[in-house]
Amino acid sequence: MEYTRLGKTGIEVSEVCFGTWRFGKESSGVVETTREEAHDLLDAAEEHGINFIDTANTYGGGDSERWIGEWLDERDREDYVIASKVYWSNESRFSANLSPKNVRAEIEGTLDRLGTDYVDLYYIHRFDDGTDVERTLATLNDLVREGKVRALGASSMAAWKLTKALWKADARDLQPFDVTQPMFHAARDETIDEYLDLCADQDLAVCPYSPLAGGLLTGKYERAPDGEVIAPDDSRGSLFEEFGEYYASSRAWDVLAEIEAVASDLDATPAQVALRWLIEQREFQCIPIVGARTPDQLAENAGAAAISLSDAQYERIADARQA
Ligand SMILES: NC(=O)c1ccc[n+]([C@@H]2O[C@H](COP(=O)([O-])OP(=O)(O)OC[C@H]3O[C@@H](n4cnc5c(N)ncnc54)[C@H](OP(=O)(O)O)[C@@H]3O)[C@@H](O)[C@H]2O)c1
Repeated sequence: MEYTRLGKTGIEVSEVCFGTWRFGKESSGVVETTREEAHDLLDAAEEHGINFIDTANTYGGGDSERWIGEWLDERDREDYVIASKVYWSNESRFSANLSPKNVRAEIEGTLDRLGTDYVDLYYIHRFDDGTDVERTLATLNDLVREGKVRALGASSMAAWKLTKALWKADARDLQPFDVTQPMFHAARDETIDEYLDLCADQDLAVCPYSPLAGGLLTGKYERAPDGEVIAPDDSRGSLFEEFGEYYASSRAWDVLAEIEAVASDLDATPAQVALRWLIEQREFQCIPIVGARTPDQLAENAGAAAISLSDAQYERIADARQA
């Protein structure tokens, strides 16, 4: 595994981050990743040198943070970089908005479940239109000052809202967002480009989620003649009805074909090439958050740190995305 400094934060992270969204998540009556499997996956991440772990207050109703906390308890906390998130929807009274009161309540819950007194990176999961962003930023700034949070991040939102938050933080001399977390993968459409241009311009580190388009870019799905997705048993595509709509655009199949061709040239797997293409982004630092449901998948994905793309291979995939 290779390590790098996460943008302006100075925090040293592995080139690949491990995402724990599926810990404790129930889909179509199946718990996608159980507690025991979660601990095995964290062991595998450790074995492959991944020190950067992504979670959120809402994942698995808190089980993701809880299970990471149990696992961390037997380790040196300082060896790991833990990112969590605040605010999702109205699942609970406290995750419902980014008011100072709720942010305070949520960080305490997160620290308690993780069994730690700080998180390395704290994202706002979405922009909250109902709370003045200055009030949220002032609270987040206090959390950094108090040592509960080391750095701040922002996940999916319109580029203009992220710009507004950066501008407000600058104008009020508050801690800015240094890291972002958009959905970005080699087959993502151009609606994300303005957000990424902003990240490049403002020197924000990008940690994209769904870097394999939910698994589509591994090449394990097939396209039926009618355009439907043929999903392997027990895959996300078989458990999540909207998988095709979400990830399998016609662009995605075209990009996958180029990724498969490059993988065959490199004697690597499509998943490794898709992830490597992200790590090698030219305009901004990019550290993909890989999801995995088995230690074998995680081992394969961690292998993205050990390959490299030629300029022609990189461009071939970039061109397919733009086509
Ligand atoms: N900020 C946000 O709003 C947000 C949203 C979503 C996710 N996230 C974060 O990003 C992380 C990753 O997102 P994601 O799970 O959508 O990422 P992804 O890497 O695009 O998809 C991961 C899924 O693909 C399949 N897969 C992964 N590697 C594979 C391999 N080598 N071979 C075969 N199948 C493989 C697995 O699903 P199956 O085995 O089930 O098919 C796995 O659960 C999450 O865990 C979370 O931390 C953040």
